Amino acid sequence: MPIRAIRSWIPVLALMGACVGAVSCGGSDTPDLPDTNATAVMDYLEQVNYQESWELWPGFGEMHRGGDPHGTLLTTYLNPVALDALNSKSGSMPDGAIIVKENYTPEGVLDATTVMFKKAGYNPEHNDWFWSKVGADGSVQKEGKVEGCQACHGDVRDNDYVFTGSLQ
Ligand code: HEC
Repeated sequence: MPIRAIRSWIPVLALMGACVGAVSCGGSDTPDLPDTNATAVMDYLEQVNYQESWELWPGFGEMHRGGDPHGTLLTTYLNPVALDALNSKSGSMPDGAIIVKENYTPEGVLDATTVMFKKAGYNPEHNDWFWSKVGADGSVQKEGKVEGCQACHGDVRDNDYVFTGSLQ
């Protein structure tokens, strides 16, 4: 190859080099959805900085009132996929929907973070929700196809196991 031709390639090669190791290159800068385990989910939430980048459940401010078993003060976030499904009254949450609920003590101290994460094919018997509960200290208290979460949220099975607002 003549020198001139090689030189014309240098900027292209430099550009390709710059892409290696970058979080994204030309695509979206949202990381891939996590695996179905609590640690991966919490890492993901940190990565996307959900408290800044996701919306609160419409009509509910930070530290809204809740009941048993989640605690008196709750802050509930929806990722964009979940928010879309809620706003469009689609009847259920699609693959990739994530709902995060922070549970606070009456004094306003974070006690635990509970998550519902919809993963197509994960658990068809219970609408494919992955459940997790992680203490404020980072300890995993519950994760997976959690019987207790499924049983109680099963009361609103017709609303895709979601209590806070109607999806219809
Ligand atoms: C005894 C019933 C009960 C159990 C058990 C329960 N929840 Fe809930 N959950 C609720 C209710 C009721 C709400 C609505 C908010 C409120 O009023 O507390 C809710 C809300 C939520 C939400 C916000 C989305 C929604 O459905 O409104 C998430 C996320 C959540 N729970 C996760 C969990 C996880 C994870 C577990 C298991 C570790 C769990 N829940 C166990 C009753 C329950």
